[in-house]
Amino acid sequence: MRAIGFEENGGPEVLRTVEVPTPDAGPGEVLVRVAYAGVNYAEVQHRLGDFGPPDPLDIPGMEASGHVAALGENVSGLAVGDPVAVYLPDGGGYAEYAVAPARFAFPLRTSLGEIDLRTAGGVALVLPTAYGVLAGAARLRPGDSVLIHAAAGGVGSAAAQIARALGADTVYGTVGSSDKAEYAKRFGYDAVFPREDFLGVVRDATGGRGAVGGPTRLASLEVLAPFGRVAFYGEAARHPDLNLPLLPLWKNNRALTGYNIGDVSRRAPDLLRTHGLAALELVASGSVHIDVTDILPLAAAAQAHERMQAGRNVGKTLLAV
Ligand SMILES: NC(=O)c1ccc[n+]([C@@H]2O[C@H](COP(=O)([O-])OP(=O)(O)OC[C@H]3O[C@@H](n4cnc5c(N)ncnc54)[C@H](OP(=O)(O)O)[C@@H]3O)[C@@H](O)[C@H]2O)c1
Repeated sequence: MRAIGFEENGGPEVLRTVEVPTPDAGPGEVLVRVAYAGVNYAEVQHRLGDFGPPDPLDIPGMEASGHVAALGENVSGLAVGDPVAVYLPDGGGYAEYAVAPARFAFPLRTSLGEIDLRTAGGVALVLPTAYGVLAGAARLRPGDSVLIHAAAGGVGSAAAQIARALGADTVYGTVGSSDKAEYAKRFGYDAVFPREDFLGVVRDATGGRGAVGGPTRLASLEVLAPFGRVAFYGEAARHPDLNLPLLPLWKNNRALTGYNIGDVSRRAPDLLRTHGLAALELVASGSVHIDVTDILPLAAAAQAHERMQAGRNVGKTLLAV
């Protein structure tokens, strides 16, 4: 089968088209004929080497949509030909076929209607993450105010809408440019601020009370309301780790919490599935819109990575396989 792989870490140019054997579905797994693969910042970091070197050839891609092509042993509830969205904890989505754990294969025929393959190409990593960050890590409660960084991106745009569906009262976002602020308005933000000076603006917008929730960046701790939570789930700027003093958490009634989908997939896979299914229902019901802004051919994966690494992407970028 045809796939996109890399044999060394580096810039987008290390991604190249390769011919590899079609994988087999093992016990508890499904083989999917990929229709669309979502492009995610995690795959940029994978290529750059943040998660280690390739061994010996890595095929990136943590989410895809397509049809079930084969079932491994001990798989129930799915049939060959079913349309699914799959979360791929070990990558492999930038390919004609991918193998996924069956528990991370989300049926697209839901009780509320069928989700199309194009939309579904950008959901299986994004939705469990956005839902898990808000409902799990941040313990979002009705009436909370939420601040979401990278507000116009894949996870950010879904998170804004899920936060609203979970009862958030006010939803703020930060973005890297004014174009993105304009674009992000379609996701229902109450206000979207420039990333560089969000601290002062958020304090003003909330009458000095601050906001709760919101992923990334330790500076966000500064704008928390009493008992607010920063849910930290990414580091797109790739800064070195920090040693954080704990006393300011006590002195200011702050909490810092984390979300990592890889850890959830290993230690709480049923919870990941629950979060994914709950968020997919919101898509099927029309409460959450996955905004596919760009569809490139599989062979143009390097181009998609280049734009994302430079922070020029908005919404969801897909590769059409
Ligand atoms: N923990 C988990 O389990 C998990 C799972 C999925 C994704 N994530 C994380 O969630 C975040 C969003 O992922 P995504 O795939 O949806 O990507 P995305 O938001 O569609 O794209 C990445 C965005 O990050 C922002 N950014 C901030 N600083 C940047 C920098 N120095 N260089 C490049 N971009 C920068 C840019 O938006 P602005 O210019 O608007 O700031 C850029 O558009 C990423 O940090 C990713 O690693 C974590």
